[in-house]
Formats: sequence, C-alpha cells, structure tokens
Amino acid sequence: MSATPDLAMPNTRPTPRRRQGVNFEKNSWIFMRASGLILVILVLGHLFIMNILDGGVQRINFAFVAGRWSSPFWQFWDLTMLWLAMLHGTNGLRVIIGDYAKSGKTRFWLRGILYTASAATILLGTLVIFTFDPNLS
Ligand code: HEM
Repeated sequence: MSATPDLAMPNTRPTPRRRQGVNFEKNSWIFMRASGLILVILVLGHLFIMNILDGGVQRINFAFVAGRWSSPFWQFWDLTMLWLAMLHGTNGLRVIIGDYAKSGKTRFWLRGILYTASAATILLGTLVIFTFDPNLS
C-alpha cells in the first residue's frame, strides 16, 4: 500500500477530542498580549522619567535611586516591570526555542539555560529592590 493519502477518500480519522483542563499554550498566548500592553505603559513611563525628565540620565546617581526606592509606588512599578519583562521575554524565547531547536535534547538544554538565567535575574532583581539600603556609603 502507498504511504501517500488517497485524496479521493474521506478523512476517516476521528476528530481529536478537546483536551480538558488548563490550556497552557492558550494562557501563554493571552499572557503575552496582556503583559505586552502593561509593559508599554511601564516601559514608556520608565524611559520618560529616567531619560527625558529633569535633565535625564545626567542626574541619575545613588542618591536618585535611593530617593525613588524610598517610595513603595516606585518599588512596585520597578518590581512589576522586572517580573513582566522577564516572564514575557522568557516565554517568548521558550516559543522561539521550540520553533528552531530540532532535537528534544537541544530544546531541553536551551530551555534549561534560559529558565536558570531568568530565575536568577528575577530573584536578584527582586532582592535588590527590597533590600536596597539607602544609608550605604
Ligand atoms: C514594550 C512592550 C512590549 C509589547 C507590546 C510586546 C508585545 C509582544 C507580543 C504581542 C508578543 C507575541 C508575538 C506572537 O505571539 O507572535 C511578543 C513576543 C515576544 N516579546 Fe514582547 N512585547 C513588549 C516588550 C518585550 C520585552 C521588554 C521583551 C524582552 C525582555 C520582549 C521579548 C519578546 C520575545 C522574545 C517575544 C517572542 C517573539 C516571537 O514569538 O517571535 N518583549 N511581544
């Protein structure tokens, strides 16, 4: 028998049943759009404050950061930006690795490196935001 499908024959394969439970890929698709929208506000606000307002980057020093992070509002802003950008970027790269890595082994190792680097950056950044000591000299 030939391996090519007979196009004159109707497709008799049963329709795959819809998988029940949490649909990870669909949720990740929604997350990319939602986090992208929130990031536009957070990143544009960040860029405007840090690079344009009141002399821009020239005025950024230890005292400037200390002043900003004395406010829970800016701590929360920076924390949200860190988490969303990292999770958004990591999930985007996870998909790209899935698209381009040919073998399961390559996918496993590339994603392992990605998740390790991402977790380390999120942990370190979060730690810095919450343990920053303005009295260090
Ligand atoms: C500033 C606002 C941002 C918006 C509006 C945005 C929006 C999006 C959207 C809608 C997707 C999904 C594309 C798709 O499914 O085809 C995406 C993918 C992606 N984003 Fe963002 N993003 C933003 C910021 C970022 C940041 C800060 C990073 C890195 C940390 C990043 C890294 C990625 C990567 C790696 C992908 C996967 C690209 C792909 O699938 O081809 N994005 N972005």
